[in-house]
Amino acid sequence: MKLLVTGGAGFIGSNFILHVLETVSGARVINLDALTYAGNLENLAAVENDSRHQFVKMDIRDREAVARLCVAEKPDAVVNFAAESHVDRSIDGPEVFAQTNVLGTLSLLEATRKAGTGVFLQVSTDEVYGTLGAGGSFSETSPIQPNSPYAASKAGADQFVRAYHHTHGMDTRITRCSNNYGPYQFPEKLIPLMITNAMEGRGLPVYGDGLHVRDWIYVTDHCRAILAVLEKGAAGEVYNIGGVHELPNIEVVRTIVRAAGADESLIEFVKDRPGHDRRYAIDSSKARRELGWEPRVGFSEGIGRTLAWYQANRRWWERIKSSEYRDYYEKMYGNRL
Ligand code: NAD
Ligand code: DAU
Repeated sequence: MKLLVTGGAGFIGSNFILHVLETVSGARVINLDALTYAGNLENLAAVENDSRHQFVKMDIRDREAVARLCVAEKPDAVVNFAAESHVDRSIDGPEVFAQTNVLGTLSLLEATRKAGTGVFLQVSTDEVYGTLGAGGSFSETSPIQPNSPYAASKAGADQFVRAYHHTHGMDTRITRCSNNYGPYQFPEKLIPLMITNAMEGRGLPVYGDGLHVRDWIYVTDHCRAILAVLEKGAAGEVYNIGGVHELPNIEVVRTIVRAAGADESLIEFVKDRPGHDRRYAIDSSKARRELGWEPRVGFSEGIGRTLAWYQANRRWWERIKSSEYRDYYEKMYGNRL
C-alpha cells in the first residue's frame, strides 16, 4: 500500500504515519506537509532514515505540484490531514482556514482526480455537526450545522469531497472524529496545554463554567479507525469515530492536575470562547458494525500515557512554548501563562 499522507508532520498525521509503518507490512508513505506552525518533523524522528517514509515540503493548495507528485508516485490512496485545526485561531483569523481547509482540499481533489489516484480519504471532525444539548449523539445523517469558522471550513471541505464522489465518481471517504489526545499534540489544545502548564506551575485557563463536554479518543484509536476505513470502507461513505469518553472540561483538567501531582489552585476560570459549542457526542456504531473497529484505550490509561510522554519529552514542548505559541497566548490571555 502506497499512501500520500498530507499534514503528516502534525499531531494526528505523524501518529498515523508511525502507526502505519509499525503495523502494515509493505506500506510506503509519502508525507506532504507545508510545515506551518503546527508541523514538526521532530515528530517523525523515529522514521527519519526509514526508506518507507519520504517527506515532501509542499502546500496542498499548490495544485500543479500536487498533481505532478501524484502522476509520478501513483499512490493507492490520499489521506488528507492537512488543515488549520485550532478553533481559537479560526476566531481570530478565519481566512487561512478557508484557504487551507476549503480551497486546499478542493485543490487536492482536483489534483488527485486528474492524476487518477485511488481512494481519497478526508479526515474530518465531529464539529461539522454543531452542538448538542444534554442528550443524544451525532450520527452520520445528523445535519451539518458548523458553529465556528474552523468547523465551517471543515464542513465546506466535506461538501466538496461529497460532490466529487457524486459528480466524478471518485472513491472518496470521510471520517468525522471526536477530540483526540496523545503524544505530539501541539500545546495550544486543551490536554497538552493543561499538562505542560501544570508541569511548569502555570495557570490552567478553563473557559466559561468548565462544563462544556467533549468525547475524548486516544490518537492511536483514531489512526486505527482511519486504516480500517482505507481497508474496509466504501466509496462515498461517512464514518463517525468516537472514543465513548464524554467528559466536562473541568473534569479533564482535574484528572490532569491529580495525575501530574499539581495544585488545584492553578485552575482559573476565564472568559468563555465566543460561540463555544456546549457538547459533542459521537455515535460510532456504523464504524463498529461495518469496519469491525472499536476504541481500545480507556481515558485514564490514555491520560497516563500522554502525561508520561510530555514528561519524557520536555524539550519538544519547551521549544514550542518558548516562541510563537507563547506570543500568541500572551496576546490572548495577557500574562496568565
Ligand atoms: P495539526 O494542526 O496538529 O496538524 C496540521 C498539519 O497540517 C501540520 O503538520 C501543518 O503543517 C499541515 N498543514 C497546514 N496547512 C497546510 C497546507 N496548506 N499544506 C500542507 N500542509 C499543511 O492538526 P491535527 O490535530 O493533527 O489534525 C489533523 C486533521 O484531523 C485536521 O484535518 C483536523 O481537522 C482533523 N481532526 C482533528 C481532531 C483533533 O482532535 N485534533 C479531531 C478530528 C479531526
Ligand atoms: O472535536 C474535534 C475537534 O477537537 C477537532 O476537529 C479540532 O481540530 C480540535 O482542536 C478539537 O477542537 P476543540 O475546540 O474541542 O479543542 P480544544 O482543545 O481547543 O478545546 C477543548 C475544550 O476545552 C473546548 O471546550 C474548549 C476548552 N478549552 C480549551 C483551551 C485551549 C479550555 O477550557 N481552555 C483552554 O485553554
